Amino acid sequence: MKEEISKYQKKLRLSSSLIEIYPNIEAETHEEFLLKLLRELNHDREEKRRIRNLNNAGFQVLKTLEGYDYSQIRFPDSLSIQELESLSFVDKKENLILYGSVGTGKTHLSVALGVKLISQGKKAVFYRVHDLINQLESKDEKKVSAVYKKIKQADLLILDEWGYLPLHQEGARLLFDIISSCYETKSIIITTNIEFGRWKGFLFDEKLTAAIVDRLVHHSHMLIFTGKSYRMVNSLIK
Ligand SMILES: Nc1ncnc2c1ncn2[C@@H]1O[C@H](COP(=O)(O)OP(=O)(O)OP(=O)(O)O)[C@@H](O)[C@H]1O
Ligand SMILES: [Mg+2]
Repeated sequence: MKEEISKYQKKLRLSSSLIEIYPNIEAETHEEFLLKLLRELNHDREEKRRIRNLNNAGFQVLKTLEGYDYSQIRFPDSLSIQELESLSFVDKKENLILYGSVGTGKTHLSVALGVKLISQGKKAVFYRVHDLINQLESKDEKKVSAVYKKIKQADLLILDEWGYLPLHQEGARLLFDIISSCYETKSIIITTNIEFGRWKGFLFDEKLTAAIVDRLVHHSHMLIFTGKSYRMVNSLIK
């Protein structure tokens, strides 16, 4: 009988966990059994989706909000720590600009927020700006359309190291295209140590810079990281 169950599980594309799930279900009636089985299968599928989303998000290292020190971050009046951690800005399709000098925890915070969003069943994708532009400029059209699709399906796009390396004109145009396609349809988090006034320095085109700033800043919260580099502090302790 087990073999036949396994056969139908595959044929109906049910989770392979079915085989482990069903013997542990305790139920008085057929209905109760079926309900509990479906509930478990659904739970199993959601869990697998979360794991897949986390693996596909592009995080280089995983970080969490646990123990994260906010003491050196200046929040705007429009956003509190609780609101930030509740991720309500994602539902409202608002953007975050994490601005401050090196090693102050911008990437950490952006990743931790993305990881939390994924744990809630939503999608986040993470790119360093330069990697994203390189991928979009690949000759392999399949790869390029996979990137666009991934971004389109995400609820949150994290663009790390914004402005750390200069872009050429086509790169800046591609970046504008991405920002513009996300505008009011999803949230963007950018991490940067370049103030708005100097964005033209890596985007080159003045009009394009103005258009990008305008879209990002509209519906956005800016968090200013004022601390010392954690990397420096930690290596000094050692
Ligand atoms: N507030 C914080 N609480 C706990 N750990 C932190 C905090 N800020 C930074 N760290 C740790 O310090 C290291 C550097 O942080 P991170 O990479 O996020 O800095 P960054 O602001 O992105 O720097 P850069 O501008 O150079 O990219 C990481 O290992 C991170 O986990
Ligand atoms: Mg960083």
